[in-house]
Amino acid sequence: MGNYCTSASPGGEANRNHILVASDTSPYANSTTSNNDKNSVFTEQYNHFFKLLLLGDSGVGKSSLLMRLTDNRFSEAHISTVGVDFRSTDLTIDNKHVNLQIWDTAGQERYRSITTAYYRGAHGVMLVFDLTSRETYHNIHKWLADVQRHAHDKTQIILIGNKKDLNALRCITSEEAQQLAEELGLPYFELSAKQEFATEVHGAFEEVTKRILRSDQE
Ligand code: GTP
Repeated sequence: MGNYCTSASPGGEANRNHILVASDTSPYANSTTSNNDKNSVFTEQYNHFFKLLLLGDSGVGKSSLLMRLTDNRFSEAHISTVGVDFRSTDLTIDNKHVNLQIWDTAGQERYRSITTAYYRGAHGVMLVFDLTSRETYHNIHKWLADVQRHAHDKTQIILIGNKKDLNALRCITSEEAQQLAEELGLPYFELSAKQEFATEVHGAFEEVTKRILRSDQE
């Protein structure tokens, strides 16, 4: 594998046959708890439903982080997400049962108008860049500006530098990223979707969920 410090992704791209939808079909997109009678059996299991978004340039590893979280799997292939993909997972925090609905958005520019439609009602956003790609790091400003334009003020945002296993190819230091996170007022996590210990990946999703719960109580 060559050094791809200035490009967004290793490997070739193919398009993944994922959901391509123009409007938000999430039944709980704008609510923290649903009392809808039709879903009562389902909702009784949970205290909260939160909508999370994974955002960042194509190839930074958004789908890989989600696959690690939900299936504890990793694939070397880069199959670009088409539009958006969706997965759901459960967490228990402080005895509260939370259902996370996680929307994995396409990083490719051509899907921008579709993906921004999903920002509405997001409780949390994970902004992801690739530690081996300065371009994806610079573009965090662009993604953040997009979130500030389309999401609501209380949306909890965290910054993620992914692919920390690629130490020899890394071009963004922890100190540099940490400084950016401080300037932007965001918590910062360095992760690897490839490494088999999913604990850190889980930890990042737990942190954003805790912050949403806290902001919910304010
Ligand atoms: P789009 O769907 O195009 O927006 O890309 P994405 O951000 O979802 O990226 P994806 O998860 O498809 O990963 C892109 C490439 O990076 C794939 O070849 C993955 O195997 C690889 N990759 C993702 N995360 C890691 C990681 O933590 N370490 C390493 N070494 N490779 C990773």
